[in-house]
Amino acid sequence: MAWKTKPSATIEIQRRTEPYLTQEMQARYTAELLPRYETKHASLLPILNDVQDRYGCVAYQAMIEIAQFLELKPADVLDTASFYEAFTTEPVGKYVIGICQSVGCEICGHQAILDHVRNKLDLEPHETTEDGKFTLLTLECLGSCDTAPVALINDDLHENLTIEKLDQILESLPD
Ligand code: FES
Repeated sequence: MAWKTKPSATIEIQRRTEPYLTQEMQARYTAELLPRYETKHASLLPILNDVQDRYGCVAYQAMIEIAQFLELKPADVLDTASFYEAFTTEPVGKYVIGICQSVGCEICGHQAILDHVRNKLDLEPHETTEDGKFTLLTLECLGSCDTAPVALINDDLHENLTIEKLDQILESLPD
């Protein structure tokens, strides 16, 4: 998750009137997810994934609603959500560029690729372009060290990256 700071004591949760967990979502989770697991808690990850996909983030209000639905403490949901880079508290861009920064990619030149994206899009990791098109992340090993350097763009893994290859990929993405 894209944590910049953790102002736990002073954080003000922005709330909206309509719930994140709609009746339709709760009915679907009850019918399809809860029966798969021995405990409600075990449904937490698939629900976080669903909320992230639907809203582009898991807002704090959504975490509270998920906690209520699963009869957990909000802190339990926050603990899990904050552990994974895949979950963000603010909406991400249409395309999330996740550049692997672990040692295999590091020795194969990940820094030049990361710097190129930072300069090209005027972005630092965990930031999103003003037009909402791109979010930049740095990720840990993506399990493809033999084709380093690699990056995930949304769900697609791009291997043996060069700056030229990455430019071609970025320019091919529709607005
Ligand atoms: S170190 Fe980058 S994929 Fe393993």
